[in-house]
Amino acid sequence: MVVVLDFGGQYSHLIARRIRELKVFCEMLPYTAPLAEIKAKKPRGIIFSGGPASVYQPGAPAVDPAIYEQGIPVLGICYGMQLMARQLGGRVAGDGRREYGKATLEVLDREGLFQGLEASEQCWMSHGDRVEAPPPGFAVLARTEQVPVAAMGDGKRKLYAVQFHPEVVHTPKGQDILRRFLFDICGCHGTWTMDSFVEQAVAEVRARAGDGRVLCALSGGVDSSVAAVLVHRALGDRLTCVFVDHGLLRRGEANQVVRTFREQFHMQLVYVDAGERFLSRLAGVTDPERKRKLIGAEFIRVFEEEAGKLGRVDFLVQGTLYPDVVESGTATAAVIKSHHNVGGLPENMRLELIEPLRWLFKDEVRQVGVELGLPEEVVWRQPFPGPGLAVRILGEVTADKLALLREADAVVREEIRRAGLHRQIWQYFAVLPNLRSVGVMGDERTYAHTVAVRAIHSHDGMTADWVRLPYDVLERISSRIVNEVPGVNRVVYDITSKPPSTIEWE
Ligand code: XMP
Repeated sequence: MVVVLDFGGQYSHLIARRIRELKVFCEMLPYTAPLAEIKAKKPRGIIFSGGPASVYQPGAPAVDPAIYEQGIPVLGICYGMQLMARQLGGRVAGDGRREYGKATLEVLDREGLFQGLEASEQCWMSHGDRVEAPPPGFAVLARTEQVPVAAMGDGKRKLYAVQFHPEVVHTPKGQDILRRFLFDICGCHGTWTMDSFVEQAVAEVRARAGDGRVLCALSGGVDSSVAAVLVHRALGDRLTCVFVDHGLLRRGEANQVVRTFREQFHMQLVYVDAGERFLSRLAGVTDPERKRKLIGAEFIRVFEEEAGKLGRVDFLVQGTLYPDVVESGTATAAVIKSHHNVGGLPENMRLELIEPLRWLFKDEVRQVGVELGLPEEVVWRQPFPGPGLAVRILGEVTADKLALLREADAVVREEIRRAGLHRQIWQYFAVLPNLRSVGVMGDERTYAHTVAVRAIHSHDGMTADWVRLPYDVLERISSRIVNEVPGVNRVVYDITSKPPSTIEWE
C-alpha cells in the first residue's frame, strides 16, 4: 500500500483516485500524522500532495524530516516538492507570481520516473513558489520555461518530486509517471482488487469492533447496503440493521431490502413499517423544506426508538464514501453528519463509527457490492432522495397520491430498463405536479392528474442535463401511464437542465 499525505491541495483526492486506478491500495492521511503511524502501515511508498501554503509561511505544514531516511520512496507533488526541497537543503523561492494552467515540460532525464516520455510533454501547473535549486544529491529531471526545476530526483534515496500535477487529466502522461513511481520505484504490483479490498476491510472491521455490538441504519441505497453486508461478513449476528420504511419509497423497494438482507444474507434486520406514522405527520404540509425537516426529524425519532430497544450498542456503521470524507475534511470525530443521506442520523448518538467504505469511490463501492453478491438492482440503484417520493409529490402528500405516483414511476423505470438505458442515465423518475387538466377517454370527459417524467444526465448531481429519450420510449411511457394508472390523463416530459431547474421538483 501507499500513503498519500494530504497538505490540503485541491487535487489531493485525485491522487488517491489515480493510484487506485493503477490497482494499488492507498490511504490518505493528514500531513500531521506521526511518522510512527505512517510506518505502522508499512507503505511501499509515500506521496506528498499539493497544498495552498508557502513553505516560508510561519507554521507552514511540514513533516518529520526523518521520513526521508526510512528507505521508503517519496514522491512530492507541488507543495510536496517545495517542502522536500526546503527540508533537504534546496532553495525555494516565490516572487508572488502564480503560475496556473498548461505548461510545456522539457524532460531532461527520460529514464526512471520519466521513462517512456517524449522530450517535450504537456503538464499542468498550479503554484506560487518554485524550487530554484534542488537539494544536494538531487538531479534536475525536467524544467519548463517558467520553472528551472520542474522535477527532481535522488535515485539513491528514492526521493522524487514534481512541480506539476501528474494526477490531473491536463497532464496527459501523468498516469504513466505515477505508474513508474509506484511500480518501478516503490515495487508495487498493481494487484489490488475488490476481493482483496473485501478481505482487508473485513479484517479491519473485526479489529476495530472487538467484541462490540454494531448497529446499521439501512436505507436501501447502495452505500449503506454494501457497508452493512461487509460488516456482516466480518461480525455476523453482532450486527443489527434497522430499516425504517417511511412509506415514501418506490414500488417494491421495501420488499427488496427485506428479502435481500433477511433471505439472501440472513442478517439481523429490524424492519420498521412506519408509513402511517410519516403520512400522519405530513398531513396538511405543503412546503417542501418543511416536509424534508419533518421527515428527517421523524426518521431520527423512529430510529432512536428502535435502537433503544436493542440494549447496548457500541458502534454505528455508516456508508460514508471517500468523496464525503474529502468534503468534510479528514475529520475522524464520531459526530454523525446531519445531512447524511437517510435523512440525518441522531447528532447526539455518539457511537463510535465504523465506515468500511471511507476509502472508496462510488464505482468502487458498486464493484464491492457485486463482489459481495448484492443484487443488481441494489448495486445499480439510482440516487434517490432521503425524503423519497414526498419531494416528488408537489403539495400535500396523501396515500392516494403516493399510490398513483408509485405506479407511474414503476412504468418509467420499467420502460427505461427495457430500452437498456438504465445504466446510462443518472436519474429517471415520475413526478406528480398536483395539477389536473381536462382530457377525454372513450366518450367521457375526464379531469385528472398530470404526471411529469424526468430523466437527467449528471456527474455529481450539481449540474444536470435532460436526457434526449428516444420518442418511442417516451411514447410507451406515456401510453402505459395513462392506460395503467387510474387518475392520470396526461403525461409531460421535463426538458429543463440544472441550472436553472433542479433535478427534483421540490
Ligand atoms: P436537486 O433537486 O437539488 O437534487 O437538483 C440534486 C440531487 O440530490 C438529490 N436530492 C436529495 N437527496 N435528500 C437527499 O438525500 C434530499 O432532501 C434531496 N433533495 C434532492 C436529488 O435526487 C439529486 O440526486
